[in-house]
Amino acid sequence: MRLDKYISSQRTDLSRADVKKLIRAGRVAVGGKTASDAGAQVAEEDEVTLDGEAIAYKEHIYIMLNKPAGYVCSAREGSSPTVYDLVPPELKRRGLFPAGRLDKDTEGFVLMTDDGQLAHDMLAPGKHVPKRYFVRLAGPYKDEYAKRFAAGIEIDGGEVCLPAEAFPDPNDPCAFTLILHEGKFHQVKRMARAVGNEVVYLRREAIGNLVIPPDLALGECLEIMHKDVEKLLTK
Ligand code: URA
Repeated sequence: MRLDKYISSQRTDLSRADVKKLIRAGRVAVGGKTASDAGAQVAEEDEVTLDGEAIAYKEHIYIMLNKPAGYVCSAREGSSPTVYDLVPPELKRRGLFPAGRLDKDTEGFVLMTDDGQLAHDMLAPGKHVPKRYFVRLAGPYKDEYAKRFAAGIEIDGGEVCLPAEAFPDPNDPCAFTLILHEGKFHQVKRMARAVGNEVVYLRREAIGNLVIPPDLALGECLEIMHKDVEKLLTK
């Protein structure tokens, strides 16, 4: 691939024209030698640097975002800020999208990627990749909820949910952890309503075996290494 294309495919904050200027300014090197030709052919395994910093070639990018409330998971919608606004420029890629949405008022784990195949594998109805939520209700959590969710509860509109696991929170009588194996529209809120309660706070903590680390603050992104991507698909 051409050197200018290689760099701009990895750094969407830099257009091909920007890259050409950087090359002319002597700021790009390939294999330790300053590059002078934007059209030079480079391979994925070549060491390309910009200002001495390596630009590692990655076919796809995987980002764990700890979404704050108030951000929407779609492209701009009215005046609401979107999850795209939270991705730092060095992680932005063409074709980046949230694989599985959270409501505007929900916090927690949103996977941003440009890998359509992984998103498909993760979200396909037959895959049942578990998603773990921390839920706080308006009224106290009742032990009967666990049985009703485990049996597959019917939510408004007559849809029946797959069996889900609920665990009461030891510190808060109104809170519980819920593990879902699917992702119906507003599912947690509709399940709470089906048992006569109401969600007042919702946070997604894990997808598959990948958990939001405690030091990832709301609004922050963490790039997931390719070796950890499999954890997204494991039960
Ligand atoms: N269930 C909901 O009701 N909302 C979310 O954002 C995610 C799951």
